Amino acid sequence: MASSSSFLASILLILLAVCWVFNACNASSQGSTSGFSMKLMHRDSPLSPHYQPSVTSEDRVRAMIERSISRARYISSIISGTSYSDDDSDGYSGGGGVYTSIASSPSSSSSSPTSAPAPSNINSKVIPNNGDYLMELEIGTPPVKIAAVADTGSDLVWVQCKPCDKCYNQTDPIFDPNKSSTFNGSVSCNDEICLAIPTSDCTDNHCDYLYQYGDGSLTTGTLARETFTFSSGSNKKQQGNASSSFPGIAFGCSHKSSGLFEPNVDGLIGLGGGGASLVRQLDSSIDGKFSYCLTPYTENTTSTLNFGDNALVNDPGFITIPMARRSVTFYIIKLKSIAVGKDTIPNESLDTNIIVDSGTTITFIPDIPLNKLIDDLSKIVNLTRTNDPHNFFSFCYSHFVKDPPYPFPDITFTFDKPPHGASIVLTPMQAFIHVSDHVLCLAMLDKNQAGISIFGNVAQQNMHVGYDLNTNMLSMAPANCSKF
Ligand SMILES: *[C@@H]1O[C@H](CO)[C@@H](O)[C@H](O)[C@H]1NC(C)=O
Ligand SMILES: *[C@@H]1O[C@H](CO)[C@@H](O)[C@H](O)[C@H]1NC(C)=O
Ligand SMILES: *[C@@H]1O[C@H](CO)[C@@H](O)[C@H](O)[C@H]1NC(C)=O
Ligand SMILES: *[C@@H]1O[C@H](CO)[C@@H](O)[C@H](O)[C@H]1NC(C)=O
Ligand SMILES: *[C@@H]1O[C@H](CO)[C@@H](O)[C@H](O)[C@H]1NC(C)=O
Ligand SMILES: *[C@@H]1O[C@H](CO)[C@@H](O)[C@H](O)[C@H]1NC(C)=O
Ligand SMILES: *[C@@H]1O[C@H](CO)[C@@H](O)[C@H](O)[C@H]1NC(C)=O
Ligand SMILES: *[C@@H]1O[C@H](CO)[C@@H](O)[C@H](O)[C@H]1NC(C)=O
Repeated sequence: MASSSSFLASILLILLAVCWVFNACNASSQGSTSGFSMKLMHRDSPLSPHYQPSVTSEDRVRAMIERSISRARYISSIISGTSYSDDDSDGYSGGGGVYTSIASSPSSSSSSPTSAPAPSNINSKVIPNNGDYLMELEIGTPPVKIAAVADTGSDLVWVQCKPCDKCYNQTDPIFDPNKSSTFNGSVSCNDEICLAIPTSDCTDNHCDYLYQYGDGSLTTGTLARETFTFSSGSNKKQQGNASSSFPGIAFGCSHKSSGLFEPNVDGLIGLGGGGASLVRQLDSSIDGKFSYCLTPYTENTTSTLNFGDNALVNDPGFITIPMARRSVTFYIIKLKSIAVGKDTIPNESLDTNIIVDSGTTITFIPDIPLNKLIDDLSKIVNLTRTNDPHNFFSFCYSHFVKDPPYPFPDITFTFDKPPHGASIVLTPMQAFIHVSDHVLCLAMLDKNQAGISIFGNVAQQNMHVGYDLNTNMLSMAPANCSKF
């Protein structure tokens, strides 16, 4: 008896020791390998600080589409500046071209935003295109709350900092490094993060960066290191409110910027695949994994961004697809076919590279499958065809019911995965978009409008999409993201 109770006591002691060593029994963890989640807000959600109730939903959708085209063209211009080619059968080999990052150095920037084919009505406008989703986090000690764009299409993490040579007008107080005990403003030019981003200057072995986006916006400042804290948040009631802190995250302390940054955003969190991105920096702490679950933007609910264990996509019906290794920043998979219906096994093979992006609203696909899809849909759908009042989409119906379910068949996207491919079904909610009160359009555009194929965020609504940078695999599963 005595020995068994002392045995239990030692187990208890060991557990306590484990608790203490791994800080696992406390709600707060210091860079533990378990997961954490936070909320994402669509910029047009009523919950977002960007939300403008006076803007009509029609104007909102138009702006979304314009942003998509602008962003897609920019991504395309970055990629075409490398040896990437869209139908490159060598996409998985890891050889050949390497995209440096979405940001370009000042010398190469002049060609950026307008070099893609420009057929439509947005040529002359400059449109902010940093992404559709916002997140909140805390930086420094004591922690200061920051609202930032979460962007899978760029790498650098940056925040506006004092002193401001030329900051844009932001609503939150500007981060003051002098008030943080964990701020370290001396990152050397040989630092791997400094080597992974475009720099402007390296005086006194001090890494000064310069990062430029597709809309012509740029941010420049000092590369620094700071403690980042992510407070847990998700739609799951039981999830508690634990937070995870990570010391020494390299970020751009932006002293000067120009362009189209919006006042409700204090910075940008790069979630791309390049060395400077938050995901790469957290690397072993999150086992190379992050995921998101985007609620339909029309719903008044938040979406979720997950890291580490929480980013495991094993929901029923999940698929995993290999990503091309050649891209540094972007997440690229290979599209084999598109078919109407659920179980169709299509016979054509597209073999086209497609970027999975959280910051582009619309999906861009090559004209041949797009026209075939429209053809097949029009044979099945028994509604009155109409024109898109904004003149973006070629396949629209009059439809007076505002909410899903929409009376359309499912559409199956099959991606390349040996031996037979992996398919994900898009429900009408993921394939169609209300462009006005009475008009519902297929939310897909000819890739010639952009120069690149992109799997956009409408298609990813109510899907759990996971990225594993260690295994280079992308996963997707149908999900109800408002329960996530
Ligand atoms: C921060 O502190 C340094 C050194 O004390 C000082 O030169 C600088 O002006 C301070 N910056 C701000 C924004 O207060
Ligand atoms: C900055 O924003 C504040 C509050 O939104 C506003 O009062 C001020 O006029 C703005 N300043 C500039 C230069 O736009
Ligand atoms: C900042 O980081 C550098 C490089 O890691 C280190 O040498 C230096 O001691 C740090 N400074 C402070 C104030 O922690
Ligand atoms: C987190 O949990 C603590 C204790 O359960 C509670 O007092 C606190 O208000 C919570 N904070 C948030 C932001 O929900
Ligand atoms: C959205 O939800 C919030 C609370 O979750 C509520 O205060 C707000 O009124 C809602 N807005 C709309 C437009 O439904
Ligand atoms: C695909 O199937 C259609 C009809 O089933 C057929 O007409 C066409 O030739 C096939 N294409 C290929 C590439 O096999
Ligand atoms: C299509 O709609 C028309 C008019 O509403 C109806 O007469 C016809 O039977 C429908 N066709 C199919 C295939 O459902
Ligand atoms: C998702 O879950 C919410 C809450 O339970 C429910 O109201 C909603 O209808 C569900 N959505 C879908 C698409 O199943």
